[in-house]
Amino acid sequence: MRERSKIRNRERREVNRTNNSKNNFETMTTHNNNKEHSTPSRNILITGGAGFIGSHLVRLFVNKYPDYQIINLDKLTYAGNLANLKDVENKPNYTFIKGDICDFDAMQQLFADYQIDSVIHLAAESHVDRSIKDPFSFAKTNVMGTLNLLEAARQSWQNSENCHLFYHVSTDEVYGSLELGDALFTEETKYDPHSPYSASKASSDHFVRAYHDTYRLPVVISNCSNNYGAYQFPEKLIPLFINNILKNKPLPVYGKGENVRDWLYVEDHVCAIDLIFHKGKRGETYNIGGCNEWKNIDLIRVLIKTVDRLLGRNEGESETLITYVTDRAGHDLRYAIDASKLKNELGWQPSLQFEEGIEKTVRWYLENHEWLENVMGGDYRRYYEEMYEK
Ligand code: NAD
Ligand code: TYD
Repeated sequence: MRERSKIRNRERREVNRTNNSKNNFETMTTHNNNKEHSTPSRNILITGGAGFIGSHLVRLFVNKYPDYQIINLDKLTYAGNLANLKDVENKPNYTFIKGDICDFDAMQQLFADYQIDSVIHLAAESHVDRSIKDPFSFAKTNVMGTLNLLEAARQSWQNSENCHLFYHVSTDEVYGSLELGDALFTEETKYDPHSPYSASKASSDHFVRAYHDTYRLPVVISNCSNNYGAYQFPEKLIPLFINNILKNKPLPVYGKGENVRDWLYVEDHVCAIDLIFHKGKRGETYNIGGCNEWKNIDLIRVLIKTVDRLLGRNEGESETLITYVTDRAGHDLRYAIDASKLKNELGWQPSLQFEEGIEKTVRWYLENHEWLENVMGGDYRRYYEEMYEK
């Protein structure tokens, strides 16, 4: 019975895929003969898969789970870049769709066409400084976009007996700001967001829980600390500063550089997502963090030493580039995650020491100079001038 319905679903999917490519989506599907004759065990929608964390997650899932069909939906905003996924774009279990989570009709059609059974939702506006300049875009994408996906999932899954999951990827910034001596954020910490970015993510988290409590939608949420690694857009602290050190440009340190962040290597984050996706309990929240707090100015000094060494400069000579600038409005002093629930219940822990992760990251940016240059087009230059040169 189950087999027959699987075959029917596959036939429907093939028909819809043909219709679909004529109509709504710009779809890049890779086919091979095997694919036409095998039914994937799961059809997983990953949103925001062309962004920083999303591209690492897509790569992990496509390579590790050849029997899953991975559908990457991304609007390709300034932060989305298909060059991040060159190495998997021709894999038979990977499909890219250019689309907008804010388009509800398109999301409904996507769930039907691809028989989506699980979602890992990362698509978002993600940079705090941009949220201060344009809060509306953050409310639109992060809140309304998430609500669209939740509703499309609810409607698509309501009469189905299959195993479903809506996994929402969120941030530790929803918990607000800690003082230096405060205890770490746990899953029980009260939400207290301060920036438009964190307010929009907090709101989306609430909607996800509301869909679980009201409609019994199977959901799971994770709240992660600051990520770093390859393919991060150079508006965030680490890639921005690597690029500026490389080019001997000023390093704009907000305030006194005393704010504290808990840094996690991006590949450790996506391993945690993999674990939670497969083993996490429905309706639960998991904190993910590196247990790795750094004051900005101390981290910047490590970064400078590493870049200088790898460029053959005297270690520390680029410290002259440090420039203290006006603080970010509403700048949260400290984020720090207690990830013991994830460790105790699911056995996760970060794999890399920070110095090792930073070294790998700096090497990647130095070796992938072309990637860096390509993402810093006209839009980036305008953003940079507006942010740092006015
Ligand atoms: P990113 O900005 O690098 O990528 C976001 C992706 O979403 C881009 O590919 C972009 O094109 C896509 N996107 C934006 N709006 C869209 C829309 N309307 N429809 C479809 N796609 C759209 O972000 P990131 O750093 O990879 O973060 C991914 C997720 O993880 C976000 O939800 C973020 O809140 C969360 N998160 C990030 C961090 C971090 O340190 N970067 C930490 C914790 C949680
Ligand atoms: P960021 O990478 O923007 O992440 P978030 O604000 O989400 O934590 O910033 C990390 C820290 O670095 C934060 O305390 C702000 C600070 N920062 C600077 O001092 N200068 C900069 O140019 C940027 C982008 C960030």
